[in-house]
Amino acid sequence: MDANTFVLFGATGDLAKRKIYPALFNLFLDGKLPDVFSVIGLGRREWSDETFKANIERSLHSFSRREASNAEAVNQFLSFFRYHVLNVDRKEDYQSLLQRVEEGERTAGIAPNRLFYLSVGPELFETIASHIEESGLGDTKGWKRLVIEKPFGRDLQSARDFNAQLSKAFTEEEIFRIDHYLGKPMVQKLQLLQQTNPVLQASWNNRYIANVQITASETVGVEERAGYYDHSGALRDMFQNHMLQLLMMLAGHLPKGDDSEQVRNKKKHVMQSLEPLLRQDVATQVVRGQYRSGSIQGKPVVGYKDEAGIPQDSHNDTFIAAKLQIEDDFWRGIPFYIRTGKRMKEKATRIVIEFREPIKQIAAANNSAPNLLVFEISPNEGIYLRLNTEGEAQQQDLTKVLIGSHKSGSEVPEAYENLIYDALRGDSSFFAHWDEVELSWKWVQPILDAYAANDVPLHAYPAGSFGPKAAQELLAKDGFEWWFDQ
Ligand code: BG6
Repeated sequence: MDANTFVLFGATGDLAKRKIYPALFNLFLDGKLPDVFSVIGLGRREWSDETFKANIERSLHSFSRREASNAEAVNQFLSFFRYHVLNVDRKEDYQSLLQRVEEGERTAGIAPNRLFYLSVGPELFETIASHIEESGLGDTKGWKRLVIEKPFGRDLQSARDFNAQLSKAFTEEEIFRIDHYLGKPMVQKLQLLQQTNPVLQASWNNRYIANVQITASETVGVEERAGYYDHSGALRDMFQNHMLQLLMMLAGHLPKGDDSEQVRNKKKHVMQSLEPLLRQDVATQVVRGQYRSGSIQGKPVVGYKDEAGIPQDSHNDTFIAAKLQIEDDFWRGIPFYIRTGKRMKEKATRIVIEFREPIKQIAAANNSAPNLLVFEISPNEGIYLRLNTEGEAQQQDLTKVLIGSHKSGSEVPEAYENLIYDALRGDSSFFAHWDEVELSWKWVQPILDAYAANDVPLHAYPAGSFGPKAAQELLAKDGFEWWFDQ
């Protein structure tokens, strides 16, 4: 891996503390950081290098998947870090940053490769990107990369404007847009599992599949993010990005290997083949919900409008379910049902593929049930197949058996480890490319318009449930039901 300087904007913030330092630490323990490496943390606070390192060490103790108990390893890890005070609006600060970066490159013999990680609010992306360009920070003989977090725009137009701004300072190949769902190990393995299991490959088409269900349910509510979430909702916060990325990864028939260009094309194909949603169909194909009070794992919780910072008349969506169709030879005729919501009964991200029951009469007479292929994505990880098998002795009826594997959440590497590792080595396969982002917004735009005009009912659902009844009706109309809602 190339030596480089990792320039971290927002080094004193929450994401850095919870995700970035622990991920870098685990990569370090796995020997996956470059041998010659330096991290310059940036923030407005007047911290010394020592204060910065003490904060990083605390974050490792609180959030690292592996214990930070080996003092020698921790000290070696901390030796990569320096702190630099920077006000993102102040031109001069970028000049002094440039000096610091160049000095590090000279003294530590680091090749002039620079990764700029923007762990800050999206409103600062443009300012920072243009200062990087103007100051000369981006003018390097080595490579430069820009890593940014979502949200990437609020709608189609703002995403386009935003991209046009960033493109002035960085090329598409240099921009790594994080969608942390793409870093989840099971998502990264979806295609490999299909390719290495001919049993799955053979049945992976519209001849055998009846429907596909993608769920990301959360038990948390709005938490302390009212200001952001009430202007975002489940559609912008989860659906436009994470859920549509899961759809692309599942339906894309991605090629084996590392070619990010091919991955991008396959994912783009999925989005281009999605049947466009017409504004007048939004109300029948999309279910919008908002949680009321209820209880989560036995504990009473308040409704969305009674959460701190949420106005009593909020129409914001905390749940969405939608039916989508992909118009290509593989998937034509198979409905994809996607749902996500807050304050639901369980924390689980999973994909269920329901197979057709070829002979209905036999199924009814013998108590058989559809075969299912289930991918557990997080917090637990697993893949299993549900088959019909012989019932109890003396009885003719069938029963069901599950074949598969399961790992509990603590054994699974964090998404950020995979993503930072890939960004460091320049592999953009598991990042959201502009074409995908633009096509996602394009598909979602009629929903945004219909929500804004209040053309879609806002269904209430009790906290601790699986969402509004209307979400069940969405499938019942087609003769299906959501699996595992109990
Ligand atoms: C984030 C959303 O992108 O994903 C949050 O902003 C959400 O609202 C989170 O809680 C869910 O991620 P995960 O990995 O816990 O499923």
